[in-house]
Amino acid sequence: MNNRQADAFVFFGATGDLAYKKIFPALHRLTRGGRLDVPVIGVARGGWNLERLREHAREGVERHGHVDRDAFEKLSRLIRYVGGDYDDPSTYAALQKELGGAKRPVFYLAIPPALFGTVVTRLHDAHCDKGARVVVEKPFGRDLVSARELSRILHGSFDEKRIFRIDHYLGKNAVQNLVYFRFANAFLEPIWNRNYVRSVQITMAERFGVEGRGAFYEQAGAIRDVVQNHMLQVLANVAMEPPSGTEDVEAVRDEKVKVLKAIPPLVPSDVIRGQFRGYRKEPGVSPASTVETYAALRLEIRSWRWQGVPFFIRAGKLLPLNRVEVVVTLRRPPPIFSGPLPPTVAAIPGANYIRFRLGPDLTIALGAMVKHPGEEFTGDRVELLASHQPDGDEPDAYEQLLGDALRGETFRFAREDYVEEAWRIVDPVLAAETPLFPYEPGTWGPVEADALVAPERWYDPAPAPGPPETA
Ligand code: BG6
Repeated sequence: MNNRQADAFVFFGATGDLAYKKIFPALHRLTRGGRLDVPVIGVARGGWNLERLREHAREGVERHGHVDRDAFEKLSRLIRYVGGDYDDPSTYAALQKELGGAKRPVFYLAIPPALFGTVVTRLHDAHCDKGARVVVEKPFGRDLVSARELSRILHGSFDEKRIFRIDHYLGKNAVQNLVYFRFANAFLEPIWNRNYVRSVQITMAERFGVEGRGAFYEQAGAIRDVVQNHMLQVLANVAMEPPSGTEDVEAVRDEKVKVLKAIPPLVPSDVIRGQFRGYRKEPGVSPASTVETYAALRLEIRSWRWQGVPFFIRAGKLLPLNRVEVVVTLRRPPPIFSGPLPPTVAAIPGANYIRFRLGPDLTIALGAMVKHPGEEFTGDRVELLASHQPDGDEPDAYEQLLGDALRGETFRFAREDYVEEAWRIVDPVLAAETPLFPYEPGTWGPVEADALVAPERWYDPAPAPGPPETA
């Protein structure tokens, strides 16, 4: 065990949905891989007992897939339960007892941010926070001011190096591959700049709607829910400079912050917001809601590398497919051989591009022109494509991130300055009354978004060949 390895894992909100859907399955897999062998202490208000919590854990793991009997039994033996009010010192006295002599516990706050202050203060009063780390979930605030307030509360007991803010996109292999692919290959760097790149599009399409989370979504909307965090993380991976050296654990996070710092705050004309028809009838949603379920944005990065290259982000619910894709379109070569692209290849408006699919599978594709057989110098665009279907054995995002938090590795977590820069960029359009355009479920969002990318066009990811996809 290295001297950063945690010696207890405590999670508040143990009887809740996040524990059931994500935390227990991730702990089960960590146990199966021999990477978890410390007490797992669930804290909750619900008046449960240890047996009920173990049952909750089993159901969560089963729902997620195969249960490995040995691993689950081991996990089960590690689980402890502490019940009580989060504001009651006796809850923390009981926790302290379960912690025994733990010197480097991890506290995961799987609870609403409104409770962070209470829990952090009580942990401090009970002297549980010494040597500890804290893990928190997005949303990190709902704007710049509230994000700063959250950090202030957490800093009351934890310095920044001991705060682990989860954005699960950072735990995804396909998202990390963006950085890996860029910097592990020599051929990309010379063209990865304003001299060769014409535009970058990032699409996060979801085939499903708000799925019973209407009340939550009413407080969020697409920009807060996925753009400020997941999509800007993807953009930062595409645009960042190579991190310097391998020793500095903060180098990657430093480079990402630099990307965001170079992005001016959005103005209303940079954004098109949409709402799918029927959203206002969802449970928990106001019949007059003006919350967006779709957002398209145009951003610029004022850096030596990217000045003048438009970056477009588009994210929406109830679109035709589940796809997360990045398309980097290159400038056209001078027209010696080729005229306009044949209509069959016009979906991506360039002869050459690099396309990354980040979900559901991992795909890397290069768009290139090749000559038709025959005398004429005419051609067609082909895709050179490598694709990887994740099998059930690869670590999922939560397994990766909880493993990192237990090991004390910070680079896959969102740092305070990064979160604040991200809010700085989107804040002005959250505060402004921008128009809201309706769109039909199952379409690519409001047509008004087309003008945002002109003279480019949106690239709509294609369905996979084979049987129709399910949500
Ligand atoms: C969550 C959002 O953070 O990310 C959801 O709250 C969204 O609205 C989800 O559906 C998408 O995550 P993934 O991993 O399915 O792409």
